[in-house]
Amino acid sequence: MLKVDKLIIGFDNALRTLLVPANTIRPVPGRNLPENELSEAEKRESVALMRINHVGEVCAQALYQGQALTARNVTVQQALSQAAREETEHLAWTERRIAELGGRKSFLNPLWYGGSFTLGLVAGVLGDKWNLGFLAETERQVEAHLADHLRRLPYQDVRSRAIVSQMKVDEACHATMAISHGGGELPLPVRLAMKLGSKTMTRTAYWV
Ligand SMILES: [Fe+2]
Ligand SMILES: [Fe+2]
Repeated sequence: MLKVDKLIIGFDNALRTLLVPANTIRPVPGRNLPENELSEAEKRESVALMRINHVGEVCAQALYQGQALTARNVTVQQALSQAAREETEHLAWTERRIAELGGRKSFLNPLWYGGSFTLGLVAGVLGDKWNLGFLAETERQVEAHLADHLRRLPYQDVRSRAIVSQMKVDEACHATMAISHGGGELPLPVRLAMKLGSKTMTRTAYWV
């Protein structure tokens, strides 16, 4: 595909992610579970955590877009596309859950998207080994952060919990996919910098 075509598709994807409700092929996890009553404080906590998860999925969209634009190997491109489709579902699930809880998404989504897209491009330019290594490390960190959310989400908010649980399973599969396609182990300082970056993102998205 021509570079300019890819750029137009990338721009279109950015607008879709930020402005249009995402679609899901798989049914939303927990859709048949009851909407248990939550106190105001519990609802606030659930909304804040699901907003963080939604921001994470906005970042995942951008990251995969950036990487798909630069990935060299066709098999890698296909594996990235499959994972990206699941990330779109995660985006849809978290978006719907925030609406069900009467919450709002992050005001800073365009900023998160832009930053992650740039990171994806840089990782892609470094070649498939580092591109996939960066992806695997991102997915591992997301999986750990989802495990933390399962500890923090109100116990009776079973619908949010079902979504986060399925996302956690999917993110682990994405990490395995990236490693099996040749992802390299990132140097420790890079892993630590990524942790610091994601901490900044999650702390900010908790509020805005
Ligand atoms: Fe995801
Ligand atoms: Fe993922």
